[in-house]
Amino acid sequence: MTPKHIAVIMDGNGRWARRRGLPRTAGHAAGAEVFRKIATYCKDIGVEHLTVYAFSTENWKRPEGEVSTIMQLLEKYLAEAIEKMERDGVRLRVLGDISALSENLRTLIARTEEISRRVEGMQANICINYGGRDEIVRAAARCAEDGVAVTEENINARLYSAGIPDPDLVIRPGGETRISNFLLWQSAYSEFYFTDTLWPDFTPRELDKAIAAYNKRERRFGGVK
Ligand code: IPE
Ligand code: IPE
Ligand code: MG
Repeated sequence: MTPKHIAVIMDGNGRWARRRGLPRTAGHAAGAEVFRKIATYCKDIGVEHLTVYAFSTENWKRPEGEVSTIMQLLEKYLAEAIEKMERDGVRLRVLGDISALSENLRTLIARTEEISRRVEGMQANICINYGGRDEIVRAAARCAEDGVAVTEENINARLYSAGIPDPDLVIRPGGETRISNFLLWQSAYSEFYFTDTLWPDFTPRELDKAIAAYNKRERRFGGVK
């Protein structure tokens, strides 16, 4: 069975580049291409939601040049997506605190979200300046502002991911076996798949392997089978 919602921590770009004697930024460019390919593949196999971690709330700690290259790649990707979304049948949504992003990026995000309203098809959720803790704290603060009780339902409705089902499968390429502040709330009962393959080397075949592993798992959600 194809998982309805797959989430990916797109990690290993820097190491991929270094191993080739290239600057880390070349790894981010290669990683962006792989995202395009994997998104198309996910759409083809009937995934409903693909959520990818593109930039974390902690990634601002990186050298300014690397951060600005990543932001430029995101701008380029969104600008191109605006042209192709309707044809490709992929909707886009950005998750994260976009207030810290450039005006150009925010304009592109607004435009993609507007087009997405009339597009049918898979939804790609791109996490930019996203942190799981930030998301939960904001949702709790918004419960207080809205004068509603702090319940799971009320928090859920105030997360960046409001309305999106929880991920069934979370994949982390790049060899690290940690969550790095990604979808902390939403992944409570997700299945995890880790691989040493670096993100720029990730292929549809790797995704098939992750899905095959997922299909061997028994999801109990705390119950018994
Ligand atoms: C993931 O690749 C991309 C971002 C975090 C923006 P990295 O840049 O973390 O690559 P490694 O982990 O250093 O190889
Ligand atoms: C997680 O990767 C963030 C993204 C892939 C966007 P990092 O490379 O930032 O995570 P750590 O530092 O290895 O935990
Ligand atoms: Mg990394």
